[in-house]
Order: sequence, then structure tokens, then C-alpha cells
Amino acid sequence: MNENILYGERMSIEVCGGNRVEGSLKIQGSKNAVLPIMAAAILCDGITVIENCPDISDVHAMAEVIRGAGGEAEYRNHCLTINPAGIQNTAIEEEKAHEIRASVLLSGSMLARFGKITIDYPGGCSIGSRPIDYHLKSFRQMGVQITEKETYICCEVQGHLRGANIRLSFPSVGATENIILAAVLAEGTTEIENAAREPEIVELCSFLTAMGAVIEGAGTEWIRIRGVSKLHAVKWLLGSDRIALLTYAMMVAGCGGKAFFETERSFSKIEYKILSRLGCRIDREESGIRVIQDKRPEPVYYLRTEPYPGFPTDGQSLLMAVLCKSGGVSMIEEGVFENRFRMIRQLRKMGANIDYVSNRASITGVTRLHGAIVEADDLRSGAGLLIAAGMADGVTCVTNEHFIHRGYEDIVGQMRALGLDAEYKGKQKEEGI
Ligand code: UD1
Repeated sequence: MNENILYGERMSIEVCGGNRVEGSLKIQGSKNAVLPIMAAAILCDGITVIENCPDISDVHAMAEVIRGAGGEAEYRNHCLTINPAGIQNTAIEEEKAHEIRASVLLSGSMLARFGKITIDYPGGCSIGSRPIDYHLKSFRQMGVQITEKETYICCEVQGHLRGANIRLSFPSVGATENIILAAVLAEGTTEIENAAREPEIVELCSFLTAMGAVIEGAGTEWIRIRGVSKLHAVKWLLGSDRIALLTYAMMVAGCGGKAFFETERSFSKIEYKILSRLGCRIDREESGIRVIQDKRPEPVYYLRTEPYPGFPTDGQSLLMAVLCKSGGVSMIEEGVFENRFRMIRQLRKMGANIDYVSNRASITGVTRLHGAIVEADDLRSGAGLLIAAGMADGVTCVTNEHFIHRGYEDIVGQMRALGLDAEYKGKQKEEGI
């Protein structure tokens, strides 16, 4: 490792590139499923137990928001218990609410349970303007009075939430989840047209159904929820994280080699198609998936990210990193979040040849990437840079590791399990996280 790299205050990850992947790992529990499930846990009185919960900072931040409201949330050894009995404070002013966008999901469940919530505008990755107008418009349709202030929003409903027919102009994942969370205890039936179809919506609905909710159509663009008067706590085994799976598969696609991923999930059709296009062989086995890459990645002539079942926007940075060393020219169009291309500046520091106009990027594969000091701008760009670092000659230092830790459990440990040479640097090592 290069001792001459200077590190700033923030933690970083150093990767000595050039190794081929050889190893196996168990895919962590799903970040995007556990966050709405944590919000759902406050819809009942009892103690919810979530097993296979990933040890990531978004989970800890969300737990802190719940504790800030007066509930109990305890994480131990991949098991999260939530007891909402003590929740009294419906004004969520926790600093953490700024840090984690999913805190906005507490508004649906708080409204359903307590009839009001005051919440700061949510934070999260800076991957584009992330308004919550669909959430608020839907709540209004369900009878909620909303007052928007400069930094926070007050929502209140007189009596019970009322079921409504809601049409989303875009299949927003968060808005679909929030409407479902509000509707399960509402009076009457709620229908969502143009609902998001992501697997995490299906998992949330399965969880709520286990709690006693009545939901039809999860995983389709039309979801119907019949409100019930009470839900009960359950114990839940969380499914594995499809984006983490895609991340590690892209490491194989970019660095070459082979890996086995223990997971119950499969790639979606489009993910399978793209990984195959890149040159990977994918074998489904009883307890997981094997991915093998024995050549230079092939280019992908055109890909647009789309809501599910399209190629996920969360996978775009991962794919772009791999394409940097492909044997041709690829085109990616970002169809969901406008700021995902900020990573390009970082990839160029490593020798990548990428041009972009607006939401379209053209990537001309180069034969060599080289190590550099690069900065993660958000969670998935951080993961993309780690993939590029594994593919590069020499040492790359990826700074702003805190973004990566939002969604990936011990990514350095996982990269090492795959035979890559990665190390935490700076403060994190001292703290022994
Ligand atoms: C979720 C995921 C995130 C993923 C994204 C898209 C979680 C915790 N996060 O984020 O990883 O990248 O889905 O698959 O599950 N929009 C509005 N108004 C709204 C809501 C959304 O204009 O009220 C726009 C957004 O700006 C964005 C698009 O809709 O352009 C998609 O956003 P959305 O699906 O809501 O994403 P999130 O739920 O925030």
C-alpha cells in the first residue's frame, strides 16, 4: 500500500487493484426493505423482531429516529427489536432525520397510528432533487391537513385517515410505501394506481400482511389496501439485498474471476441480461448464485435506468465503473435521478474516458485505469468507485467512506472475502468499526 497518500479527517478505503475475484460471501439483508419495515413496526403495540438486519448506518440512524420519538430500537448481532410502546413524541426533529431520507416513511405510519407528525425535510444521498410532493399530495387525499414550513412539515388528521383512490404520476418507491403504511389502518379502502413494483414493496406488503393487514396487488402497478382496525407484532426474517448482490456481481464482471454469493435472490431479467452482455456466466445453485467472468468486459450499447422491472438506478454507477474498461463504446441514460453522473469526474481521475450531456453518458472503454484519490458523492457512487479501484493498476483511495457505510455492511471485509486487496484507513481503523 502507498504510504504517501494523505488522508483527510474523514475515513477512506484504500484498494490495491489488479486482483481477480476468487471467493464467496453471504449477501447482507436488504437496506431498502428494512427501512420501511422499521417504519411499519410502529403500527402495532408489540415488539417486532427483524432478523438478518444489515449492520449499516442507515439502520442505526433510523433506529435513533425511533428512539428520539420515545420508542425502543435495539440492534444486536443482526437482530433488530423495535418496541413502539413509548412513542409519544410525534415531532421528529432528530438531527438524524436530516441524514436519512427513509425517515420520511415514519410519516405514513405515525399518521396512521397517532394522527399527526411533524417532520423535518428528509435527507439522504445527494443524487438529485428528492422532493416529497407525491407523499404529501396522497396524504391530503387521505384527509390529512398539511402545513409546510421552511424546514419542516406539520401533518395532522382529524379522526381517522380515510381510504382514497390515488394515482401516482411516477411510480415512486417511497411514496408507494408511505401510502401503504398510512392505508393499512385507514378507514375504508385505498387504491394506488401506477404504484412502484420494486421487490422491497413486495417485502413490505408481505410483512404488513403477516401483521394482519389486507393488501392485494403488491408487485403490480395497482395496489389495493383495505384498512383494518389493529395490527399485531411479528418476527421477520429479512430477505437479502438485491443491490448488494448486483454490486458484488459487478466486481466480478469488472475485475474478472469467479465468486459464489449465498442468497435466496436471483437477478432480475434485465440485470441478468446486462451481466451476460458484459461477458459473465451466471449459474443458479441451490443456496445461491455463482458468477464467472473470464474476459475483458464487453460494452453495453445502450441502457436506460428505469423503475422496476427496469435496470435499477442504484446499479447505474456500478455498471458505469465496469464499462470504463470494456472493449468498446457504451451509452447509459439515467432515467430516475439526475445527479448520478457526478461520479464521472472521479472516474476520469482514474483514466476513464467518459463524456456526458444531461442524463446521457458515453463511455469509451480504456485498456488501463490507474489508482487515484477519489471521492464518493453518494452511496452507490462510492460502491462504483470501489469496483473501479479493484479494476485499476496501483492504489486507489476512496474517501467519504461514510456514504458507503450507509448501505453496505463491512464492504472492505466483503471485498477481502472476494480476494480483493482493500483496507479501511483513517479514523475508522482507530475506532475499530
Ligand atoms: C428509493 C430507494 C433508492 C432508489 C430509488 C429509486 C429506499 C430507501 N431508497 O428511493 O435506493 O434509488 O427508490 O429506485 O428505498 N419523486 C418526486 N416526488 C416525490 C417522490 C419522488 O418527484 O414525492 C421523484 C424523485 O425525485 C426521483 C423519482 O421520483 O426522481 C424516484 O424517487 P423514489 O422512487 O421516490 O425514490 P426513493 O423512494 O427516494
